[in-house]
Amino acid sequence: MLTSIFDFACSISPSVRRFVVRMIYQGLSALDTEGCMVFMNYGYADLTHSAVEIKLQERDEVNRYCTQLYRHVIGSIDLKGLDVLEVGSGRGGGASYIMRYLQPKSMTGVDIAEKAVAFCNRHHATKGLSFVRGDAEALPFEDATFDVVVNIESSHGYGDIERFFREVYRVLRPGGYFLFADHRHKDKIATLRQQLVESRLVCLKEQKISLNILKALELDNGRKLSLIRQKAPWIVHRSFQAFAAMRGTEMYENFRSGACDYWSFVLYKKREMES
Ligand SMILES: C[S@@+](CC[C@H](N)C(=O)[O-])C[C@H]1O[C@@H](n2cnc3c(N)ncnc32)[C@H](O)[C@@H]1O
Repeated sequence: MLTSIFDFACSISPSVRRFVVRMIYQGLSALDTEGCMVFMNYGYADLTHSAVEIKLQERDEVNRYCTQLYRHVIGSIDLKGLDVLEVGSGRGGGASYIMRYLQPKSMTGVDIAEKAVAFCNRHHATKGLSFVRGDAEALPFEDATFDVVVNIESSHGYGDIERFFREVYRVLRPGGYFLFADHRHKDKIATLRQQLVESRLVCLKEQKISLNILKALELDNGRKLSLIRQKAPWIVHRSFQAFAAMRGTEMYENFRSGACDYWSFVLYKKREMES
């Protein structure tokens, strides 16, 4: 049902879409006040056995696959000493990982769901890390404030993605990076690429990572199922499983059949002398 509401809302208008997305994530945040769920992405798993696993502290192991999606998207960009913004920071697990492991100068998370923002400021108190409420399409920051903008599995719910890309360009400093990942129906990816071209950001790398996502969904299925059973009333268990693209759901099958794909991008804002 959650996915049907979401799809229906998306088809009406950008403002209805924004409102419904906010309500869904507000609701999800209200269900978990203790902080069992600090990530809300599908996760990422390497496909080869020989790949070196990222090192995580014991308390972060439970969120390995969701954290690995962040690690993949950040790739070889060194965040040390930089001002980093995450748009759509959700329950803050990704921003907290970046702050604690990758040592940026500052890490700011922005999300449209105020309950998620309040949770993050309570739960992830770490020096240099803060969360504010804001809309991806009207970011509450001055021009050229950040060296890096991260955006993971959030953009599919935005009312006007071109406005979001213009905002990313505006808040990035010249020489800054936009690290972006999300899923799209296969018919929509050409449009997304064109929108990125029009954003004036230069695409340095793009990768289809659907198989990595599917593997993570498989490996993390048990954990997510027990979380849903523990936190949500039984009447919404199926809806939550569908929302989390768990095994056997339509979204999971869409990834398997190739109807939907998951992409990651590294984009760059040129300096004046490079234009
Ligand atoms: C699937 S969650 C992903 C959260 C996080 N990136 C992660 O990987 O755990 C998507 C997040 O995007 C946020 N979001 C959706 N539309 C937004 C908008 N227009 N502006 C800011 N945040 C938005 C939602 O509130 C939600 O927290």
